[in-house]
Amino acid sequence: MRNLPDTAKTNKQTHLEIGGCDMVSLAKEFGTPLYVLDEATIRNRCQNYLKAFKKYHENTEVIYACKALCATGVLKVVTAEGLGLDVASGGEIYTALRAKCNAKKLYFHGNNKSNAELKMALEAGVGRLVVDTYQELENIDEVAGKIKKTASVIVRINPGIEAHTHEYIKTGTTASKFGVPQNEIEAVVKAAKDKKNINLAGLHAHIGSQILDVKPFVDEVKLLLKLSKKYNTNEVCIGGGFGVPYLTSDELPAIEDLARAITGVLKNDREIKLVLEPGRSIISTAGVTLYSIGVIKDIPGIRKYIFVDGGMADNPRPILYQARYDAKLANKPDKAAAEKVTVAGRFCESGDVLIKDIKLPKVAVGDILAVMCTGAYNYSMASNYNRVGRPAMILVNKGSATLIVKRETYDDLIRNDVIL
Ligand code: LLP
Repeated sequence: MRNLPDTAKTNKQTHLEIGGCDMVSLAKEFGTPLYVLDEATIRNRCQNYLKAFKKYHENTEVIYACKALCATGVLKVVTAEGLGLDVASGGEIYTALRAKCNAKKLYFHGNNKSNAELKMALEAGVGRLVVDTYQELENIDEVAGKIKKTASVIVRINPGIEAHTHEYIKTGTTASKFGVPQNEIEAVVKAAKDKKNINLAGLHAHIGSQILDVKPFVDEVKLLLKLSKKYNTNEVCIGGGFGVPYLTSDELPAIEDLARAITGVLKNDREIKLVLEPGRSIISTAGVTLYSIGVIKDIPGIRKYIFVDGGMADNPRPILYQARYDAKLANKPDKAAAEKVTVAGRFCESGDVLIKDIKLPKVAVGDILAVMCTGAYNYSMASNYNRVGRPAMILVNKGSATLIVKRETYDDLIRNDVIL
């Protein structure tokens, strides 16, 4: 199935297996909720992007937007595949450096980076700073001047392009908080060229996230190319936002089709360096979250709830964006659907529903539910609501399971409390 990791199958025990590991055994060994990531799927997605785009436009760089899932174990895998990183905070830079990623391959984003973060980035030798406003350009020049560095920047423009996605994850429209508005681009580009401690390398835009069409990307590249010619710059960074199949019914373009359409605009102009920043589409389908089913509450004629031991704190996307997910019972993945249920979490909030109305085989207490496509923006947006520790994360590959993030303990939860 398209919304499962590439290595997913049903094994001899008739359990869900991913990366050669039995998901029921994994749940027993490491406890639930449990984030599971399939290393092969992550590597495949990285290679899919590199191969598809480089085939048509050799001068392409792919950087992983690590806000989708930032953990040292994951950054090691994606950078080993040859990707750079889009980082959006001092914390993400710190994580990347601790994972020994090459600082030169980092692109530092943000609409309100602090001077301390800018200094940290410049001292670490981050490859590019992505300028979001005129004010920031001045900050960068000042910070770089003080520490005697030259900042290599690309200017993020607001492309004014409407992409059909959830309101909260649109970024390219004129009213967005991101990017330099069209009527200020000229002034910012000119200033970037003039500032003593700044080198202008190119232009950037990002039109939103979970976009399922090709056309808005093509429009975006056309605009960026036109501006690059006008301002005589060579780097065209188109951001990320490529959609993933949360549900098997979600239709989306293949990476190959995206590559052909996007690079088509560049017409073999080798001078142009194309940069892509996929986050979700690198990591999302590699992930499943395992939960144990506890209480089952049937409200006759209305709804049958199955309660899991996690929910909105480990996956806030349904409550934030009405995101829809699909799931399987890991201990009987191929059993025919027998009932319609609603999967709800354990948190004190009525809206803590992970999946409304999903058809599953007859569910029993103790079953293991695998929610699919949870690699992106689950762990990275997780909270400790109700003082519940965040789950552990396991990287599975060829039959071995490696713990890459420990489960938070009660002690972790009070670590920063000053106990009076
Ligand atoms: N580049 C820039 C400048 C971005 O702002 C983003 C995402 C990306 C790349 C990566 O986009 P992706 O390929 O992952 O769609 N929390 C939301 C998504 C927020 C995306 C923010 N920026 C969600 O859970 O849907």
